[in-house]
Amino acid sequence: MNTAHQVSPRKLEPRGRPSATVQPAWVRITHWLNAIAVVIMMLSGWRIYNASPLFDFRFPNAITLGGWLAGALQWHFAAMWLLVANGLFYLVMNLLTGRFRRRFLPLSVPAALRDMAAAMRGQLTHPNLADYNAAQKLFYLGVVVLIVLTVLSGLAIWKSVQFPLLRVLMGGYDAARWVHFIGMSAITLFLVIHVVMVLLVPRTFIIMLRGR
Ligand code: HEM
Repeated sequence: MNTAHQVSPRKLEPRGRPSATVQPAWVRITHWLNAIAVVIMMLSGWRIYNASPLFDFRFPNAITLGGWLAGALQWHFAAMWLLVANGLFYLVMNLLTGRFRRRFLPLSVPAALRDMAAAMRGQLTHPNLADYNAAQKLFYLGVVVLIVLTVLSGLAIWKSVQFPLLRVLMGGYDAARWVHFIGMSAITLFLVIHVVMVLLVPRTFIIMLRGR
C-alpha cells in the first residue's frame, strides 16, 4: 500500500546499516524552540482571550500564562519573536539544503488519507524513521501553514492600522480574530494528536533529541 516505509538504498550506509543522522541538529533545535514558543503563545493567548472572549466561555486561569492581561501580552509578544525568527530559519534551511524536497515531496493527499485510516486501525507501521509517511508529510506541512496563518492573523489584529492589506485579506479586524482563534485551535489539536503519535512510536522522540 504505502511505499513511504520502504528503506531506500540511498538511506543505507555501505555496510547496509541505516545512516547515522536522521534529524540534523538544526532541525532538532528549531523543532524544540518552536514547540516552546508555540506552547507559550498558546497559554498566554488563552489569558489574553479571557480578557475579551470571542465566545461564551473562558479558559480556566490555572492553565493560562501571564497572571493577568498585561503579563500575558508580554509573554505572547516575547514568544512571537522566537516563533517567527526560529520559524523563518527552519523554512529557509529546509529550502536551501534541499531537505524540504527530500523529506516532504511528493505529497499525496489520497496516500495521506490511506495512511491516516491505517493509523486509526492501528495498522500503520513506521519501520524506516528516516522517511515520513504520507500522513506525516501532510500533517507537518499542514501545521507549518497553520502557524504562518495564525501569525499573519495575529499581525493583522496587533498592527491593524499599519497593515491594512493584511487586515483586508483576513476579512477585516473581527474576522482576523476568528482566523486567529481557529488557527490556535487547529494547532492545539495537532499538538494533541502529535504527542499521542510520538508516544506510540517513542523511538522518534529519541531521534528528535539525539538525531540518531
Ligand atoms: C506545537 C508544538 C509542536 C509543533 C508545531 C511540532 C511540529 C513538528 C513538525 C513540523 C515536525 C516535522 C519536523 C521536520 O521534519 O522538519 C515534528 C516532528 C517531531 N515532533 Fe513535533 N511539534 C511540536 C511539539 C512536539 C512535542 C511536544 C513533542 C514531544 C512529545 C514532539 C515530538 C516530535 C517528534 C518525535 C518528531 C519526529 C517524528 C518522526 O520522526 O516520526 N513535537 N514536529
